[in-house]
Amino acid sequence: MRIHIITYGCQMNVYDSRMVASLFKGEGVEETDNPEDADIIIVNTCSVREHAERRALGRISSLQKLRREKPELVLVVIGCMAERLGDNIPGADFFIGPRKYDRLPETIREIVSSKQYAVSSPSGIVTLLNSSASTGQVTFHPIRYRYRVNGINRQYAVGSMRVGATSRLRKPPHPYPEPDRGVTAFLPVMRGCDNFCSYCIVPYVRGKAVSRNPEDILDELRYLKERGVREVALLGQSVNEYRYGETPFRQLLRMVDKESSGVRIRFLTSHPAYMNDELIEAIAECNSVCESVHLPLQSGSDRILQLMERRYSVDEYRHWIRRLRDRIENIAITTDIIVGFPTETEEDFKKTLDIVRKTRFDFAYMFMYSRREGTKAAGFSDGVSLEVKKGRLERLIALQNGITREKNGELVGKEVEILIEGKSRREGLPMGKTRTGKEVIIKMQSEKCKVRNVKMGECVNVYVESISGWTLIGKTLE
Ligand code: 5AD
Ligand code: SF4
Repeated sequence: MRIHIITYGCQMNVYDSRMVASLFKGEGVEETDNPEDADIIIVNTCSVREHAERRALGRISSLQKLRREKPELVLVVIGCMAERLGDNIPGADFFIGPRKYDRLPETIREIVSSKQYAVSSPSGIVTLLNSSASTGQVTFHPIRYRYRVNGINRQYAVGSMRVGATSRLRKPPHPYPEPDRGVTAFLPVMRGCDNFCSYCIVPYVRGKAVSRNPEDILDELRYLKERGVREVALLGQSVNEYRYGETPFRQLLRMVDKESSGVRIRFLTSHPAYMNDELIEAIAECNSVCESVHLPLQSGSDRILQLMERRYSVDEYRHWIRRLRDRIENIAITTDIIVGFPTETEEDFKKTLDIVRKTRFDFAYMFMYSRREGTKAAGFSDGVSLEVKKGRLERLIALQNGITREKNGELVGKEVEILIEGKSRREGLPMGKTRTGKEVIIKMQSEKCKVRNVKMGECVNVYVESISGWTLIGKTLE
């Protein structure tokens, strides 16, 4: 039996897809890159903007052809859309949203055991069963055992077995997903979000904020290190809000730092309302923690920030940028910005442009506001027209892209340390990132400079010679 996984959305989804793959592996199901070879297809979805939902729905709909050709194929939708829309999504057999991920191991067992039956069934009909359910031909009954899956399920899991089948328990899956992104990996430290920013669907689909036990996190970090991972990004929707008992995020960072010799640590996404000087101190003092912070601004207008329920003013935001830059030399600051929030005027938008100009972010993710049913902002009247939103987004992107290029250009003529992560897309040259997250391609041996061979996962000092688009080009230094 094989699964194929399609992933949309954020880093947490990328991690969750790995977790699902590892749970299936524990049930003896391998992964395939080719959807046509799969017996089970998983679509991991995102609800943050309408565009992301439309793409996933399009993909699910295009998979129907395969489903018609192969009636025994099981299509499973997981992620935020499964939570938000559930079985209102046409063309899938099974839905598991993030709030039900504690039941993933059990559900996956059920999918696998019912498929095993279905595969051998002459009718080829797949029946997905609840514990103790009966199809008329076969009865399933619950079984229990104890194991952990990366802090998500640490109690008893209930699976189901066919009555009469030899009740041989398979080995519980490894608690952590295998890293599959080469030398970099994600590590969730908390899940969910309680901030309820007025535009955002995340708290509704991912549930309330829950921080993971630091011991668990350190254990997973050691696991990643043993498998050759050299850069770990700690994940949380509002990561600096992390707190487990008496352990706040700054202390977690210090604990992680002690365990991560030779491994770079990043963390995202930070919320400006939870910034504090002690955290900045911890970032500055921990050698493994990279000089890079992702701090969404969302808007440069106090009036809009208030309507967004972000709980900081533009001045407070700028205060934290100053503190970060004063204490941490050359820190890279990246951000998220939304344009066209309901009631946003040209004047509000100009304030956003103004702060973008003054702050000089290293990079920004910029979005048009997308109305999400069920959020507070969905009830706001005075929406901004699509045309105006598009125009504002274009202006903002033009401004920020220029700044990104200039900021990257500041590295030309400098020496930087890069971690080799892979090969450049076009020429297949070794490619790595600086501690501040900037991509550098290493130019191969030229007559003038001798370039030694570099290996994946190696940290090398590079002299940045030039910039092409946004990408820096450099040569290794002996
Ligand atoms: N419309 C547009 N952008 C949104 N984001 C979150 N919700 C919405 C929405 N409804 C953006 C925010 C957030 C990022 C992950 O996505 O900028 O920081
Ligand atoms: Fe959404 Fe705000 Fe939570 Fe971020 S902090 S996930 S924008 S509610």
